[in-house]
Amino acid sequence: MVVSGSTIDSLLRENERYPPSDAFRTRARIHDDAVYESARKDPEAFWAEEARTLAWARPWAKVLEWDPPFAKWFVGGRLNVSVNCLDRHVATARRNQAAIVWEGEPGDRRTLTYHDLWRDVNRFANVLKGLGVGRGDRVTIYLPMIPELAVAMLACARIGAVHSVVFGGFSAHAIRDRMEDAESRIIVTADAGYRRGNPLPLKRTVDEAIAGLDLVRHAVVFRRAGIEVPMREGRDHWWHDLMEKAEPECEPEAMDATDPLFILYTSGTTGKPKGVQHSTGGYLVGVATTTKYVFDLRDDDLYWCTADCGWVTGHSYIVYGPLANGASVFMYEGAPDWPEPDRWWRIIEERDVTILYTAPTAIRAFMRWGDEHPKRHDLSSLRLLGTVGEPINPEAWRWYSRTIGGGRCPVVDTWWQTETGMILITPLPGTTTTKPGSATRPFPGIEAEVVDEHGRRVPVNRGGYLVISKPWPGMLQTLYKDPERYREVYWSQIPGKYFTGDGARVDEDGYLWLMGRIDDVINVAGHRIGTMEIESALVSHSKVAEAAVVGKPHPVKGQSLVAYVVLKRGEKGSDALKRDLQKHVREAIGAIAVPDDLYITEKLPKTRSGKIMRRVIRSIVSGQEIGDATTLEDPGAVDEVRKWLQEIEGSRGDRR
Ligand code: PRX
Repeated sequence: MVVSGSTIDSLLRENERYPPSDAFRTRARIHDDAVYESARKDPEAFWAEEARTLAWARPWAKVLEWDPPFAKWFVGGRLNVSVNCLDRHVATARRNQAAIVWEGEPGDRRTLTYHDLWRDVNRFANVLKGLGVGRGDRVTIYLPMIPELAVAMLACARIGAVHSVVFGGFSAHAIRDRMEDAESRIIVTADAGYRRGNPLPLKRTVDEAIAGLDLVRHAVVFRRAGIEVPMREGRDHWWHDLMEKAEPECEPEAMDATDPLFILYTSGTTGKPKGVQHSTGGYLVGVATTTKYVFDLRDDDLYWCTADCGWVTGHSYIVYGPLANGASVFMYEGAPDWPEPDRWWRIIEERDVTILYTAPTAIRAFMRWGDEHPKRHDLSSLRLLGTVGEPINPEAWRWYSRTIGGGRCPVVDTWWQTETGMILITPLPGTTTTKPGSATRPFPGIEAEVVDEHGRRVPVNRGGYLVISKPWPGMLQTLYKDPERYREVYWSQIPGKYFTGDGARVDEDGYLWLMGRIDDVINVAGHRIGTMEIESALVSHSKVAEAAVVGKPHPVKGQSLVAYVVLKRGEKGSDALKRDLQKHVREAIGAIAVPDDLYITEKLPKTRSGKIMRRVIRSIVSGQEIGDATTLEDPGAVDEVRKWLQEIEGSRGDRR
């Protein structure tokens, strides 16, 4: 899709500046800008120096082999990620320090020291081996936010298996697709997880997902909620039974730095999710380094990233980055407003959380729920705040800084993606003067630019495409089993540069302002959803002929989903059918993909060549003018859109 600079020109202009306080700066790991210059001069040396802080079974021969668009980092080097996240710390005084401080939604608490976690990971690694899992095999993980999720991931890493974590909110259908694509013969799950007071029956969803899927040999089930679940003889095993029988120690596999560590499926612009594949060595160097500097991690921190491990944020900034640094990580299972909208603030007060990393959508929800909830709690343990997942509006940024951070904590707005693996654009809290709403500048060693469709840098304050100009250690290696799609999606738009799919502008100080996706991917409540995926789910319903799904601005979620559906000839629309369509999407993908608004219409506006004009629909639902670009694309389109507008005017307000 081609977007002219003017169509995505940003309206945001913020002049406020927040320099780091002297108190923060003097204690910070990085307190001046010298690192930017040295990393810029020799990025490979910068990354190599960071890599040397990790434990390697064999040193690398070459920092980077760049055969565009395929990068190999730390070629020849061998390491094990679980050794770096656990054994290294167990050998020091960290042994008895908290690795994971966990709270379940019902209020149950567990703390796993580094040694505890090491023990569980070793045993579970042996469990996996006992079930026939070896180097390179794919293991699907579908668990609630309990410590066993980290245990399962690290156990895979220990034996060189490749995990594919599927977010607990995804449907049976989505699990099945991902297991088939990954050719995964084993799934690790739980009887249930808690969400708003109710057990969410994960095992039941797994049963449905793997019914008749001959590929799947084993399901390991952790007993979390104690609900009744059917166990199929020979295929299903209780976690605790296997753990009890497993040997206590498991020799870690020395993996090549370029071996895959995991696959994580994410939405793109087609109906089929992409299996983003990350490496072992480069990825670990990338997440360990960014965790250390972006969060200014210290030994006495209790660090809380509120993401779910089902998303990349949980992989990089709950499990691998923090544990590689020997941090104490707080982990919470449930909903932020359960039983009351002050749950998070109560946790921070009771547990002395020092760093909070969350998403703008959560911040906006808390703003709505009212200041009285955070005000009721002592949040003075906090010293740093972070956000990720979508652009943060300056108002939410200020509220976060003031109401949660007490005006004392730096706010780091971190931009990155499932594909980038690690944070790429972010302030460094001890040195960067922040501006509310800007992710500021690239991390040391990263080169980002904003360009037009020909790859030329756009002038100051003009919108363009955000591209990353050089490879970085945490970058995806490829799309699983689909290197051609990898090349096409990320490296063909602007030759030689990584295409992020985001619009951005650079201001007069060189600060980057992210402006959201410029493709058919929508960011709903910080989660990336491909409109094509939802459209194909809708079209798979027996009564649907065509569908168009677009995003529209939403005060809390950032964007919400709007679907226009054309029925097959002879079919009649009704509220019952709309509900059925929503259920259909929930079953095909999951609750996160269900459109908030669903309209049944006679037809969709199309170009002469028959393409649905999604951009036009998007402008209309967002209350904007229909841009010139559209009319230029196809002169007949204007009439077409007018007719369509007249038709939908009648059905507007006719929600769900
Ligand atoms: O549009 C950008 C937005 O989230 C997209 C990546 O989504 P996903 O792969 O699901 O990963 C989310 C967590 C890393 C990006 O293309 N995004 C992420 N962080 C920011 C952001 N947009 C603006 N500002 C951010 N800080």
